[in-house]
Amino acid sequence: MAKGTVVQKIIEAHYVSGSRETGKPVAIRIDQTLTQDATGTMAYLELEAMQIPAVKTELSVSYVDHNMMQNGPENRNDHVYLQSVANAKGVRFSPPGNGICHQVHLERFGVPGKTLIGSDSHTPTGGGIGMLAIGAGGLDVALAMAGKPFRIPYPKVIGVKLTNKLGPWCAAKDVILHLLSILTTKGNVGSIVEYFGPGVASLTVPQRATITNMGAELGVTTSVFPSDESTRKFLKAQQREADYVPLAADAGAEYDQVIEIDLAKVVPLAACPSSPDNIKPIEALAGTKVGQVIIGSCTNSSYRDLAMVAMTLKGRKVNPNLTLAIAPGSRQVLEMLSRNGMLADIIGAGARILETGCGPCIGQGQSPADDTVTVRTFNRNFAGRTGTKGDQSYLVSPETAVAVALTGEFTDPRKLGVEYPDVVEPEVFGINDSMIQLPTGTGEIVRKRTIGQPPVNTPLPDEIDGVVVIKVGDKITTDHIMPAGVHLKLRSNIPAYSKVVFECFTEPGWPSFAERAAAVRDSGKAGVIVGRDSYGQGSSREHAAICPMYLGVKVVAALAIERIHSANLINFGILPLMFENPADYDAIDEKDELRFTDLHKQLAVGAPVRAELVKENGQTQEIIFKHRLSDEDIRIILAGGMLNLK
Ligand code: F3S
Repeated sequence: MAKGTVVQKIIEAHYVSGSRETGKPVAIRIDQTLTQDATGTMAYLELEAMQIPAVKTELSVSYVDHNMMQNGPENRNDHVYLQSVANAKGVRFSPPGNGICHQVHLERFGVPGKTLIGSDSHTPTGGGIGMLAIGAGGLDVALAMAGKPFRIPYPKVIGVKLTNKLGPWCAAKDVILHLLSILTTKGNVGSIVEYFGPGVASLTVPQRATITNMGAELGVTTSVFPSDESTRKFLKAQQREADYVPLAADAGAEYDQVIEIDLAKVVPLAACPSSPDNIKPIEALAGTKVGQVIIGSCTNSSYRDLAMVAMTLKGRKVNPNLTLAIAPGSRQVLEMLSRNGMLADIIGAGARILETGCGPCIGQGQSPADDTVTVRTFNRNFAGRTGTKGDQSYLVSPETAVAVALTGEFTDPRKLGVEYPDVVEPEVFGINDSMIQLPTGTGEIVRKRTIGQPPVNTPLPDEIDGVVVIKVGDKITTDHIMPAGVHLKLRSNIPAYSKVVFECFTEPGWPSFAERAAAVRDSGKAGVIVGRDSYGQGSSREHAAICPMYLGVKVVAALAIERIHSANLINFGILPLMFENPADYDAIDEKDELRFTDLHKQLAVGAPVRAELVKENGQTQEIIFKHRLSDEDIRIILAGGMLNLK
């Protein structure tokens, strides 16, 4: 067990119950929560279902940043609900236009040493300020707001030792891309990354937040930096110096694994299509023509990032063969850039300014043209996430993005022939919290026509006659399971949203997953989803559990299931199982039956679960599954999900 690390110290300070043995569940007290609108509506509906009059956390904030288009009433109906339920339940409300949840939270609410869970997988952004900040499903966030502790596997702590400092045009983004090339997106479930070493001091809080933000792509529980002089400086500039507490690992603290990164040797990198760990140096891509550049997202739209972009663009012109769009991460940043004139430099160079929010990162506009390379400062490039089928999406730093925007092709920014701008971190940020609405604890909750109810599952039967509705391969993301983009406006209407589950796998003219699963459900059998490695990678989108549940899925069987998705499956009463023998994956085909008997007895901590595979031709074979379920997980699944246990 790791001793005296920052991770261990925060867990100890918030320990409620459970084990300190790596991999075993430990329950911790949660100080703060955040939600965003795409997941928040369901989270607050779930909180309402718990009949809690007011949240019990120190601080909870509801942000609207994902779905701000209003081409139809659905999104605005959600915002109105979110605003009213926040007011009634004691939650602060950050309306559309105020910024992306993680950036605003870092700027205005993050406190070193505190715990935060958020219904968004990039909640670890808060690790940049020394918080233990974890992404979770909406139901887990609702439970935390109701005062319940949050369970995580006691983590393996991966220590990343940073030495030296970054060179010109080499960025914090390149550090996390470098780490992704080492650790990849697979096999890190249950770990927490902790940064230490002399190189830490050279990074500002927003740079650290870029690194912890995209740590989500490693599949770890979270990532954390110590809280030091840089942290104090950032909090002082945000006029919140009183929130500063120092936090560092003890001398000689033990990490379960140590990786060393010499910051001086980090070079500009890109995550190539279509995985954040498909890393190449920009030099290797030099000369590739690019049709679109977008700078923004919760990873890379801090004041420093956009000031660097503005200073590079000043007096120059965006290459006419591409478009450059910039989405500032927060209103604070946009307001500062507009007051100091940098916005004029950006506009003058020919960039398009998008509103502050997630925008294109969640597929809300700016889909690239067919057969076009798009270069983005975001954190995800899963196939189709841009809204264009067959997209070629590359993830880079703002430094590389601005170089590409000027030349029209992949260009190592060190070879741009431009001096690296010396961005001066502001002594005082432009503080203006006038948009944050403080709750009154009273008032009516406004529920317009499109706001549904959270669907409730039936208890897990002792015998399951399962039918494999779909068999998919490696690295299936929650984007594959539940597409976002234009469909996101259906998030409060489960029957409608369920129609697009696994839409990307539907062949024209063939029945969709939803039609096949509903037919299985209506015949009295249960749906089974079969996946390979890293099933459920990506976001905290609990609709990826809720909608399959609504369609009658009772079991997800895969080689490995990602942490947040596995937790969401459990919360909604779906059994997450893993093949004991990986070769059994090959033995299963769609339409085969998987029959489970004596399931209530079979389900025990550490015990295998046996099922009979019945092929379409009548042949049978035993399949043995393993799982990571705790006693509490089993109790939840048997009840048919957490909402049945209230
Ligand atoms: Fe938003 Fe994209 Fe971050 S959807 S929260 S900007 S990962």
